[in-house]
Amino acid sequence: MTQDVREDFADPALRTDPHPVYAQWRRETPVRRVKLPNGVTAWLVTRYEDARQALTDPRLSKALPVGQTTDSALPPAVGAAVSRHMLSADPPDHTRLRRLVSGAFTARRIEALRPRIEEITDELLAAMAGRERVDLIDAFAFPLPIQVICELLGVPAADRDSFRRWSNTIVAGAAARDRLPGAMQAMVSYIRELIAERRAQPGEDLLSGLIGVRDAGDRLSEDELSSMVFLLLIAGHETTVNLIGNGVHLLLHERTRWERLRADPALLPSAIEEFLRYEGPVETATFRVATRELELGGTTIRAGDPVLVVLLSADRDQQRFPAPDELRMDRAQNPHLAFGHGIHYCLGAPLARLEAQVAFGRLLARYPHMRLAVAPAELTWRPGVLMRGLLELPVVPGPAARR
Ligand code: HEM
Repeated sequence: MTQDVREDFADPALRTDPHPVYAQWRRETPVRRVKLPNGVTAWLVTRYEDARQALTDPRLSKALPVGQTTDSALPPAVGAAVSRHMLSADPPDHTRLRRLVSGAFTARRIEALRPRIEEITDELLAAMAGRERVDLIDAFAFPLPIQVICELLGVPAADRDSFRRWSNTIVAGAAARDRLPGAMQAMVSYIRELIAERRAQPGEDLLSGLIGVRDAGDRLSEDELSSMVFLLLIAGHETTVNLIGNGVHLLLHERTRWERLRADPALLPSAIEEFLRYEGPVETATFRVATRELELGGTTIRAGDPVLVVLLSADRDQQRFPAPDELRMDRAQNPHLAFGHGIHYCLGAPLARLEAQVAFGRLLARYPHMRLAVAPAELTWRPGVLMRGLLELPVVPGPAARR
């Protein structure tokens, strides 16, 4: 089947509520050729089964460059210092890079972080007490995961604001095109300085451990080391924030959900899985490129074509999920793709789940009367097609309950 290139994926109106449009695409052209805001023409995969196939098909590579993008104007040395990471690698490089850090992200190692995550959460919630109105993204959903990943890696607290700015610009991609090279350059310089400092004065953190591996042999190059730090910081900065933000929005938008979850905290784990499915933090997986011709959902993808899996759409596919447009916090079967699938399945999933459990549990207990401070229609969504999250979530915290 051949198709014309469609422009509509770049439409800003799609950001507010992409779901009806994705439903239409799943029905009409489930594998769809579009021109992206960064100038690349790619195939969008919108159905669940096709998405799973694409995420596991070894003919779709993560290591090949994606055509000519309008935001690729970076000096080669800067590009190399951020792009040699596991999410842009195929086996055996992928296997080697992932193995170097996977030990730090096992369920057991992550569970050990619980007391510290609870402490950070309680501090952030205490700082909201007595305030009439708060942007919950700025005051809570952002700083919690940032502080956790920075402590895990060993990034000093004083540098976190700059980091957040660069990181936001980088994931906005074409939507922040003018600022992108500057943000990349600044981030790379910063990461290199950080590595130099830790090398001189190692600590107990993950970064010091990685520097040890780098310096002890040939398992990690210098570009791979800086790219690993880059990936972990970006992933730790840009994703869990949207799980917390989107989830709180869903709860406050229909208050009966908030009350139900407050009355029955045992629902929390399945509610979090449902937030991930229903309004997942990552809208599209990262690019894959066909190494040879293949069929996807009845469509021929040619060698060299970029493919983008729309996770947000796959997770609302009625062929896989009964009543996909209903938020069911007690949904029993929930094999969503919010963390991806296959060898690149999210390394940080146990950490994100734990952060979300602590965040929602403590928020509901501490601010039982919280409500939205604006009409839902006034909320605005982040630009770009990679992430699905609110720019701001203004709330009235209400009186804090005693702990
Ligand atoms: C709710 C929060 C999160 C969501 C929804 C999420 C989602 C994803 C998705 C969809 C992928 C696969 C992308 C693809 O195949 O193109 C991925 C990969 C990855 N994520 Fe997450 N992520 C989250 C939090 C985190 C955190 C907190 C970290 C850790 C610091 C992290 C680290 C990674 C890494 C390292 C990969 C690459 C894995 C590989 O290539 O093998 N993520 N994530």
